[in-house]
Amino acid sequence: MSEPFDAVDVIITKRDRHELTDDQIHWVIDAYTRGAVADEQMSALAMAVLLNGMTRREISTWTAAMISSGERMDFSSLSRPTADKHSTGGVGDKTTLPLAPLVAVFDVAVPQLSGRGLGHTGGTLDKLESIPGWQASLSNEAMIRQLEDVGAVICAAGSGLAPADKKLYSLRDVTGTVEAIPLIASSIMSKKIAEGTGALVLDVKVGTGAFMKNRDDATELARTMVDLGTDAGVSTVALLTDMSTPLGLTAGNALEVRESTEVLAGGGPADVVELTVRLAEEMLEQAGRGGQDVAAALRDGRAMDAWRRMITAQGGDPDAPLPVARETDQVLAGGSGVLSTLDAYAVGVAAWRLGAGRARKEDKVQAGAGVEIHAKPGDAVEQGDLLLTLHTDTPERFGRAQAALEGAVTIAPEGTDVPRTSIVLDRIA
Ligand code: URA
Repeated sequence: MSEPFDAVDVIITKRDRHELTDDQIHWVIDAYTRGAVADEQMSALAMAVLLNGMTRREISTWTAAMISSGERMDFSSLSRPTADKHSTGGVGDKTTLPLAPLVAVFDVAVPQLSGRGLGHTGGTLDKLESIPGWQASLSNEAMIRQLEDVGAVICAAGSGLAPADKKLYSLRDVTGTVEAIPLIASSIMSKKIAEGTGALVLDVKVGTGAFMKNRDDATELARTMVDLGTDAGVSTVALLTDMSTPLGLTAGNALEVRESTEVLAGGGPADVVELTVRLAEEMLEQAGRGGQDVAAALRDGRAMDAWRRMITAQGGDPDAPLPVARETDQVLAGGSGVLSTLDAYAVGVAAWRLGAGRARKEDKVQAGAGVEIHAKPGDAVEQGDLLLTLHTDTPERFGRAQAALEGAVTIAPEGTDVPRTSIVLDRIA
């Protein structure tokens, strides 16, 4: 079959800073998915996009083409509205765990298709798999049944959603083109729009532990994704949130599940509670159910009840003891004063090296591995105080984890004013 376009012409168009037509974009995504455009041609095009950008129309068409490469889910048979949240990934970001059951309490269904961790950021499925018996894979029918019965599901995305993105994402990973904002935005939003949620809240992280290290880039990414969602009829809003220091007091799979259940029991670290409640309020607002006392559902046990139902529905035992790592090591304060920095990226890398994350897709994670945090920026510390506990089953990992943490902690002289910045930095609608 002869092709209507030539891949080289499409590459040259973008290389020479011209706009691609809708037909060119639909063709190139489809032809790449079926193998008629070669990896080296798509790499050249991705690099041209990284260097020369795309217009709003081009990004919107590119996203639509990636959606058309696979199946679309449909939740219109449900008796309640749907809302989802997507985080661009951070260290200690366990908010999905308490958030999904919390929102379900208010009669909004949460279809949370999640991924596994790669690199220094943790994956929601890896965290939940530390609960004995819990299963990540569900058929589309089982997912819809659970959304109707329980109101919340966190599960693995099936391979049918946006297959073009799967292929393109792997290619970007090895060609230095991950960071192109049009490609990140279309990658995330094609999966979220294909998933079929009615409302979407984006948590765009900013800081050392995030993909986006500075606020301008995070704002541009958030704006691009909100426009894509809105254009596709999904009620979308983005929060820019701080990821210069880890969220909460744990980074690691079972450690984060334990902290999430503390939040569901009405306790937990203030920053995790603040972000969970704010995201839930935004999801309910986008789903047309705003103005409710969300925090009350954490205090009075309703969110915990929904969590227990959600975990049980996927084979998990919410009462089973969580795995604990066999060995621990410590990081102590080297001086006295006020903790002024605890770097998110360094803590993420340390948790990863301890075994909480994987270096290759096929690696297994250790459920109990990770970092427990005993002091956060703004806290007074004395020389010799315990700052971090490192957990692993394989103590030969302690050396590399300690090395990752070199320079991660700074202590300012006593009396220094270290402002505790708000976790939510901006809102983009
Ligand atoms: N997450 C995605 O799904 N895609 C990207 O391009 C980046 C982060």
